Amino acid sequence: MTHEPGTPLAELIDEARCLLGGDADAMVDIRSLVSQLAGLDRARQLMELERLLPSATAARLRSAFERRAAGEPVAYITGFKPFWRHEFLVTPATLIPRPETEHLLEWALEKIPPQQALTVADLGTGSGVLAISLAIERPQIQVFGCDLSRDALLVARENESRLRADAALPIRWLQGSWLGMFKPESLDVIVSNPPYIRPDDPHLAIGDLRFEPQSALVAQDEGMADYRQIIEQASTRLKPGGWILFEHGYDQANAVAECLAQKGFQTISHRTDLAGQVRNTAAQRV
Ligand SMILES: C[S@@+](CC[C@H](N)C(=O)[O-])C[C@H]1O[C@@H](n2cnc3c(N)ncnc32)[C@H](O)[C@@H]1O
Repeated sequence: MTHEPGTPLAELIDEARCLLGGDADAMVDIRSLVSQLAGLDRARQLMELERLLPSATAARLRSAFERRAAGEPVAYITGFKPFWRHEFLVTPATLIPRPETEHLLEWALEKIPPQQALTVADLGTGSGVLAISLAIERPQIQVFGCDLSRDALLVARENESRLRADAALPIRWLQGSWLGMFKPESLDVIVSNPPYIRPDDPHLAIGDLRFEPQSALVAQDEGMADYRQIIEQASTRLKPGGWILFEHGYDQANAVAECLAQKGFQTISHRTDLAGQVRNTAAQRV
């Protein structure tokens, strides 16, 4: 029996550099693909350059490098993206969760004290990152993970089954548009990262956004259409005293706050992301 010698890791990394360039961003992508597809963490990648990778692994990596060179996001190639404390399955049916959205989660957790059995809706749940992280951090609450997209909800359900411990998580998945399926005064907290990019925004033709679902990214009315609809519906679906917390674009804080104020919301406040951009707004129904 003959044994295939395999391909040295160093050779594959050189090939990847030729395809993707050797700058810092390209190296982050290369390291991440090797880590997830060959099971070698960064330290081993640095120390085991002579390691021979079997032909199936080498082929998988070469295909991944080519897909990345064609612009496909790393998360769609590997199928996973870390968020908060877990790795979430993502597909082209879901937005790739962004680190900024962890700020929205953190703020929502401050509004949901441990032990308080509140009812919470995550509107536009996508891969389920917010709904599932909330349910894991606050198992006493009832969470509704809602989305218009059936395919996104299938991914969210899959993430729930992968990430739940022995007991089921307190989540119900609902397909429908925003708050249409909720009764008046039925929710204590609403979190949402809805589509907010203007249809003519040139960023839609650049980078990862080219591969993500338009239905998760784009909103009419200067990117404000979905906020207006959610805020209108939330003004009756939230219980008095209930909170709504949004993620939005860096230049939409004033427009979102104005819309909230017009519908009678109070205690309107904002938070910035690590880059100092105002990316979250929260308000309370009186
Ligand atoms: C920006 S993505 C957010 C995904 C996820 N929450 C996250 O932060 O990674 C917006 C989500 O809203 C969903 N969506 C778009 N229009 C909707 C509607 N009318 N009702 C409910 N969900 C909608 C999209 O399918 C998409 O999953």
